[in-house]
Amino acid sequence: MWIFGWKGPSGFSARSTAEEVTEGIDATGLTAIVTGATSGIGVDTTRVLALRGAHVVMAVRNVEAGKKLKESILNEIPSAKIDVMQLELSSMASVRKFASEYIASCLPLNILINNAGIMAPPFSLSPDGIELQFATNHVGHFLLTHLLLDTMKKTARESNREGRIVLVSSDGHKFAYNEGIRLDKINNEAEYNCYRAYGQSKVANILHAKELARRLKEEGVNITANSLHPGEIATNLARNNGLLNGNIDVT
Ligand SMILES: NC(=O)c1ccc[n+]([C@@H]2O[C@H](COP(=O)([O-])OP(=O)(O)OC[C@H]3O[C@@H](n4cnc5c(N)ncnc54)[C@H](OP(=O)(O)O)[C@@H]3O)[C@@H](O)[C@H]2O)c1
Repeated sequence: MWIFGWKGPSGFSARSTAEEVTEGIDATGLTAIVTGATSGIGVDTTRVLALRGAHVVMAVRNVEAGKKLKESILNEIPSAKIDVMQLELSSMASVRKFASEYIASCLPLNILINNAGIMAPPFSLSPDGIELQFATNHVGHFLLTHLLLDTMKKTARESNREGRIVLVSSDGHKFAYNEGIRLDKINNEAEYNCYRAYGQSKVANILHAKELARRLKEEGVNITANSLHPGEIATNLARNNGLLNGNIDVT
């Protein structure tokens, strides 16, 4: 237990809350997209960004749940600026629709938090015929980031404020298949292992962030890209393996 309270060089520990970490930060004038904002980490990310003054777009597959959460955040923070938009990350058509609607809205984009994720479901294919975890956790976010990058670059240029792209990966990347990403066997059902496939998708998140960060730096763009492990947090993520059964209400 002691280790959770141990403070690192940042002055924060694994027990620090999002509110504590952002204390004193004024995010007024910033616009952020948070994917998977209807459950777990995405809910608190949305709430605290809004608390600090950012305009948050909740990118969610279940719009009704998103609207309900928006209402509950507004009850707590009446000044919160929140929009809800539909995004089904396992479908490239949905990602393209979301991005084109976002671009058409002419909103700026300072912060993109690629948070949504699924862990260890039984084998299935996305509407595009890609193993579902790889499609949702990696491909959907990769395409989304690619489609919104020009908007982010324009925002960073015009606002003169550093843009941030965050890929929520996982310590679970260590459980990937021995080869890391099995590019030639993504859809191999016979050899599918739900945890290794989760790890594989999280390795892809890390590699995406690393290469994107390198390219942005090379291009001299004022945007950073990082991946992270959020810690072990009781959310609905384990809904597929019966550990938590998808019954956690974090609102
Ligand atoms: N919790 C942990 O301990 C932990 C540890 C390491 C990494 N992570 C990572 O943290 C991120 C957030 O997880 P969480 O723990 O907050 O899990 P969660 O409570 O299950 O929330 C996941 C969110 O992703 C959304 N989502 C799932 N599939 C989607 C899709 N196809 N299209 C759009 N949205 C989709 C879910 O929407 P619905 O509400 O509609 O299902 C939900 O809002 C994930 O990337 C996960 O891998 C979590």
